[in-house]
Amino acid sequence: MIARAGYLTTRFGGYLHREVPEEDAELSHVGPDTPCGEYLRRFWQPICFSDELKDLPHRVRILGEELVVFRDLSGAVGLLELHCPHRGASLEFGLIDAKGIRCCYHGWQFAADGTILETPGEPADSTLKDRLYHGAYPTHEYGGVVFAYMGPPDRQPPFPVYDSFVRPGYRLMPGRKYFYPCNWLQIMENAMDPAHTAFLHTIISGSQFTNEFGVMPELEFVETPVGMMSISTRRVGHNVWARMVEAILPNLQQVAPIWETGDQEHPFSGPMMSRWIVPVDDTNTLFIEFRHVSETEGVTPAWWADRTIMIPGQLAAESYEAGQRQPGDYEAQVSQRPIAIHGLEHIGATDRGVMMFRNQTRRGIRAVQAGGDPTGLCRDAGVVIPTYCNDTVMRMPPDVDPAMDRRLMRETGRRLADGYLKDPPLLASNVTREPAVGDGFTRRSGAGDESGVRHELPRRALATCGKRADE
Ligand code: FES
Ligand SMILES: [Fe+2]
Repeated sequence: MIARAGYLTTRFGGYLHREVPEEDAELSHVGPDTPCGEYLRRFWQPICFSDELKDLPHRVRILGEELVVFRDLSGAVGLLELHCPHRGASLEFGLIDAKGIRCCYHGWQFAADGTILETPGEPADSTLKDRLYHGAYPTHEYGGVVFAYMGPPDRQPPFPVYDSFVRPGYRLMPGRKYFYPCNWLQIMENAMDPAHTAFLHTIISGSQFTNEFGVMPELEFVETPVGMMSISTRRVGHNVWARMVEAILPNLQQVAPIWETGDQEHPFSGPMMSRWIVPVDDTNTLFIEFRHVSETEGVTPAWWADRTIMIPGQLAAESYEAGQRQPGDYEAQVSQRPIAIHGLEHIGATDRGVMMFRNQTRRGIRAVQAGGDPTGLCRDAGVVIPTYCNDTVMRMPPDVDPAMDRRLMRETGRRLADGYLKDPPLLASNVTREPAVGDGFTRRSGAGDESGVRHELPRRALATCGKRADE
């Protein structure tokens, strides 16, 4: 039998609770040379929106590193170490010009790849600039978002394109960017904790999504080739509503529509949003999202195409009291402490998804430490990677026995998920599509001209990117 700490077995035992364990550093620390920091650096990470790069440099902090991002007048996007290699002035005060950025202090000029182009105050025969590079990271723009690869140069993977990004009949648009002052892991865990949609978002705070979220769902969790997903199944009259929310390793969430009511039967909906949870440092995190907007009227609500409108229940409440009266994700997750202490938790049956995600993350971290590639990393350029997030609503009259009905719901959710894993619906819809600007796909010969090319996207992603590389 496990001996419990005295405070846990004593009424009015608060005085006995003195020892506070450390956070799980392996999973939560993200700086350079930390195990998790190295893991996250193996993947392309979003750092800002393209439309944030105007005439002034843009200072960012990502994975504990101080950086500056800019677009020079030739269009090249640079991500450089913030402090000038001459004597440390910040390049956020630099001058963007045709070929890079020029430090404000003594005019040294840097290209997007870190080449030092000029050291104008130095003697004409100085070789200083030829002997040094300034620290730089590769960038890639996709769908209005700027991504960076901050890992070892010889391990750079191609930019991953998921099937939800190239879905026919849908527009991929940049959404919102916002910050939480807490560790990245507890934010990722939230998406694998669907019980909170019933409690936090509906029962406790009033309906922040739809009223139907207020029923505690039947829960299943499954691993996918690129991560995992939660399956929450609820009964809505004669329908069964299965909601699958996805964690794509290491730090991308795909969220099913929050406007679902379950009252109309429909097949696989796909995600409403793909949202990265990017560590700024150990105790601050950036959210940056793509929204998926249907080109068919009425499929996605009109407000979803308006970037200025935020999903309910995500941002900090307007005041401390408002947060106490109607807490949302911000209040719940930030208040878990700057870094949640796993050693103080008491994990229940509803936390199976959280534990599965922690295990996947730990496996990925250790795979990188062992010199391998983590699950979720795709090294095949030009493939479309299948994903699975969706709502599905099926007509299925209730069993007279409530326990049997709950079992029926669980089995239905699981069966749907198994079918989607076997034959990913979005991948099937992506056999041909119109190109997105800058998507980097190989154009196939004979497929059309440059203006209206139809791409054939190979359906081999499951075989190549679906392998569990860290097992
Ligand atoms: S500190 Fe940047 S050029 Fe001198
Ligand atoms: Fe939430």
